[in-house]
Amino acid sequence: MLFIVLSFIFLLAGFIYLKYKSEYWKKRGVVQSNFVLFKFIWSNRALPEIYKNVYDEYHKESYVGTFLGLKPALIIKNVQDVQAVMQSNFENFHSRGINFNPNDLLADNVLFIDDYRRWKLLRHKLSPVFTSMKLKNMFYIMERCARDFVEFVNNEPDISGNSFNALYTYTTASIAASIFGIDTHTQNTMDSPFLKMTRETTEPSFANNLKFSLSNFSPTIFNLLNLKSFGKYEDFFISFVKNVLKSRRNEEQKRHDFADTCLELQKQGTMRDPATGYEIDASDEILAAQAFFFFVAGTDTSATVMHFALLELAANQDILKRLHNEIDKAFDQCNEKLTYEDVEKLEYLDMVVSETMRKYPPIGAIQRRCTKSTVLPYGQVPVNSREIIVIPVYALHRDERYFPNPNLFDPERFAPENLSKIVKFSYLPFGEGNRMCIGTRFARVQVKSGLAWLLRRFTLKEQKYEPNSFDPSFFSIKQFQANFEFIPRN
Ligand code: HEM
Repeated sequence: MLFIVLSFIFLLAGFIYLKYKSEYWKKRGVVQSNFVLFKFIWSNRALPEIYKNVYDEYHKESYVGTFLGLKPALIIKNVQDVQAVMQSNFENFHSRGINFNPNDLLADNVLFIDDYRRWKLLRHKLSPVFTSMKLKNMFYIMERCARDFVEFVNNEPDISGNSFNALYTYTTASIAASIFGIDTHTQNTMDSPFLKMTRETTEPSFANNLKFSLSNFSPTIFNLLNLKSFGKYEDFFISFVKNVLKSRRNEEQKRHDFADTCLELQKQGTMRDPATGYEIDASDEILAAQAFFFFVAGTDTSATVMHFALLELAANQDILKRLHNEIDKAFDQCNEKLTYEDVEKLEYLDMVVSETMRKYPPIGAIQRRCTKSTVLPYGQVPVNSREIIVIPVYALHRDERYFPNPNLFDPERFAPENLSKIVKFSYLPFGEGNRMCIGTRFARVQVKSGLAWLLRRFTLKEQKYEPNSFDPSFFSIKQFQANFEFIPRN
């Protein structure tokens, strides 16, 4: 009898909960699409693609409510709301709602964190790493990596069957060298000890997806199990950074890499926010966490841009030809010694890179967590504290209203005379507002240098590229298995 009563109570509670969930958004006049996460897990597609399906299905709506695990989430479609969430209402949406285990030394100290005071101080201290002047001084490192990469491609017989991995080797090596410098013992920057580490941490594997789901949608269980996002590499990476900083403390010469910045920060003593008095010790561990995150945030994303750019160029030989002309002219004029300024002047290359990130934004969805209840400006929809806002970047980039004929690869959209036509907050490859990607400039220079050197020495065999879907990942748009074929140029 007791069993029957308990079962009845259990079923009733379940029914009431499901009913509450299924009407959560409807009560605010917002349409609701259930099972988004379920569709992601079972469809073998990227979550940003699922968001796009929902976005297109409710084409007349400006909002679609859903649940991500136990968390209520609102997919926003109007750029006025995107602007409010990412920029003007930053105070209400400064968090991403992505949780890390406080015992996870590498993850819980990175710029991606939720803790506002810690993020603000770290962001303020790290921003000077990415100024144009710093990048200019650092350019000799990127140039050396781009040159080594071309040799690497030349000597690698089966590169065509492994296109993404080859590009990944370049971006990892280039970030490693920009962090730790190049010393006289370095024979070839492509032999990076960090390749395995970055690949394992950024790969959208089932295990990584599961860990990420749990950390986000049930942080209590994640922390109770003491799971760590990057725990496997904690000891290796932190001791590597400690050794580099120790040996560099006795060096006089500046190398203009991230290690130089770390030493400068340590010389200045404890980092302090004068507005709040909040302090962080510039310890080796804190700085190692930042360096680690540059790998996590920068290697896969930059390799993805280069990968899709080369796939589209192989499919659009007229665009490839025009790009070859621009690159050849620049190399001829500078006697094969391209400078930072020369790369910045490659206008058509810049347009190709921008269009690649429009059609295939490496981060296909961005999220924010509401930290203080507010109302969204476009439809006056109330949003409560702790609710998640999804900015469906991939869907916005493929929305006909903002980018006519959105499936066409057309770099002209980014020609200087057309830039004013791009609707603000409809193009978000690096996000926007205070939490925009800190590595934007670095990434663009790294990607453009790699492509410029590659296309000086190689061209691409013509082939079609019309992907139907992308790899299953929480945020990324990528297609690891797609390959192109390099042909050496005379
Ligand atoms: C093409 C390459 C890259 C793309 C497409 C990209 C894209 C993004 C996006 C979309 C965000 C989230 C922005 C937001 O929430 O508004 C982000 C954040 C971030 N990215 Fe990048 N990124 C790239 C390369 C890099 C590189 C090379 C680095 C470092 C060397 C880097 C470091 C970061 C960091 C630290 C954050 C967190 C910023 C914060 O919360 O304050 N990224 N990136």
